[in-house]
This record gives sequence, C-alpha cells and structure tokens, in this order.
Amino acid sequence: MRNAHAPYSKFRVGSAILLTSGEIFKGCNVENASYGMTNCAERTAIFSAVAQLGPKIEIRAVAVMNDRGVACSPCGACRQVIYEFGPDATVFFEGANGPKQAHITELLPEGFRLQ
Ligand code: THU
Repeated sequence: MRNAHAPYSKFRVGSAILLTSGEIFKGCNVENASYGMTNCAERTAIFSAVAQLGPKIEIRAVAVMNDRGVACSPCGACRQVIYEFGPDATVFFEGANGPKQAHITELLPEGFRLQ
C-alpha cells in the first residue's frame, strides 16, 4: 500500500496473496494518466506471483486493504483474475460493517474458465 502509485484517485491500496505452497506475494495499485490502464493491488500481487513462479500457482487466500480504512472489495476484473488462479480462494477485505471474508465464488458466481 505504501508503494502505491495513486496520484489520480489518491486511494492507496495494498494486497497480499497466500499460495497453497505457503508463499506470500504483495501488490499495490499502479495508476496511469490513461486511467483505464490502472492495475489494482490484487492483480499486481497475482501477476507478480506468476512472474516469479510461473502459471501453476494456486491461490489460497487474498487480502486487500486501503489507506482510508473504508469498505473496499476486489473489483469485478480482479475477481475474475483471482478465480483463474484460485477457484477455491478465500478473500479478506474491509466490508461495509468491518472486516469480512468471502469465498471467491460468493463474490464471483459463475466465474469464467477455459478448460
Ligand atoms: N483499487 C484497487 O487497487 N483494488 C480494489 O480492490 C479497489 C480499487 C484501486 C484502483 C484505483 O487505483 C483506485 O483503487 C481507485 O479506484
């Protein structure tokens, strides 16, 4: 979260993912002047894990937090990316009434997979 590049939204986000191997990877949001190019903290963490270990990673859990302590769950794009590498992942985030956890399929019913 401290490393976030968020000059446009000023909303700094950090994420950590736990793999079934026990390894942990971190990520932050990286914004761009072309706003749509922004990468969320969750996807940064996941892409970092793939870059380091390759595509066989299995995500066991994802945590996300922000510097304002406000409710913030992964966006739709991140849910789909989490599902790709963690169809049984638990996601920890700040909900409307405090810390929350949910299975990825609760957050993303009918996630898309190519077999
Ligand atoms: N953001 C994340 O990094 N993760 C989330 O779960 C929600 C939103 C970022 C994207 C953008 O840089 C900023 O927060 C405001 O939307």
